[in-house]
Amino acid sequence: MPLQIIRNDITKMKVDAIVNAANETLLGGHGVDGAIHKAAGKRLLEECKALGGCKTGQAKITRGYDLPCKYVIHTVGPIYNGGNMGERALLESAYANSLALAKEYSCESVAFPLISSGAYGYPKDAALKVAIDTISSFLLENDMTVYIVIFDKASFKISEKLFSDIAEYIDDRYAETHFDRRREESCAGMLLKRPLVAKNRREDVADECMSVPMPAIESLDEKIKQIDESFSQMLLRKIDEKGMTDAECYKKANIDRKLFSKIRSDINYKPSKQTAIAFAISLELTLKETEDMLRKAGFALSHSNKFDIIIEYFISNKNYNIFEINEALFAFDQNLLGA
Ligand code: AR6
Repeated sequence: MPLQIIRNDITKMKVDAIVNAANETLLGGHGVDGAIHKAAGKRLLEECKALGGCKTGQAKITRGYDLPCKYVIHTVGPIYNGGNMGERALLESAYANSLALAKEYSCESVAFPLISSGAYGYPKDAALKVAIDTISSFLLENDMTVYIVIFDKASFKISEKLFSDIAEYIDDRYAETHFDRRREESCAGMLLKRPLVAKNRREDVADECMSVPMPAIESLDEKIKQIDESFSQMLLRKIDEKGMTDAECYKKANIDRKLFSKIRSDINYKPSKQTAIAFAISLELTLKETEDMLRKAGFALSHSNKFDIIIEYFISNKNYNIFEINEALFAFDQNLLGA
């Protein structure tokens, strides 16, 4: 998956480059800067001394020394001063210049901390949004795996309004499911407790539970017709119908090119549920179409599962921004979309 949000200590990341949220002297500091210097050893400071500092929004590169990564890209984010002092543009350049440097050094994987969101005071939700926007627009043009590494979950929050909307949506749907389950159980109980009642009496009992959905009886023929079109065939058909190119579709789905080629060349490819949903989001399918596509891959959306309800929430609200969806999934401790 080209962009991933994960929780970790960035000094433990086995990637080509990690990014350091440094200050203009590049001579070390607290926070993530202190942790990186400590884990890399003294030789990092020696190399940094020779760099002559770094302006806010710019980036410079060194080797990784004792860290498990090849390089450290040092960038300086803005000090947050209310938001009207060009902070957003400077933060965007810190990300964009770090990514450009990673590309120049042929890095295939890069990990970022949430720059400026600690000592420099940038509000965490806004800092995360800048990170996601800047990295995802870079990934539309470039192949790279980029991680946003969140250190402490407690200080991480998506917009409170979004969080509470989703929480409410989950609560409503969970309540419905549990109510349905109770109703099914009580109907099943009524039927079981009266095993000797006459057949038509049992039908009466079933009538009392009329709203319990009965599975439709389909002929074998009808069933077989449904497996005519495979997941990959449906995906390619939908890409054509939407007038998208393959690249537009897999990039918007946050899926890498190699995986897409596999799906394209194997008519019977069986994707993971996350991958199938990522494509449904990228194609901006309705809920019904999403369910059809999932069925092709052997999956369904259910109301007894938070992940599924969150997906349903975004599709019902026609919000097809995969990075925002992943941000919300992350906030609710769920697996993210993509490969
Ligand atoms: N791994 C990943 N993220 C971390 C780690 C870690 N090991 N440690 C902290 N963070 P900050 P800034 C997160 O203050 O706001 C330094 O002294 C942390 O939770 O490190 O850009 C520099 O020398 C926060 O979300 O950087 C500068 O003077 C994020 O990293 C100044 O602080 C950034 O917090 C830069 O301030």
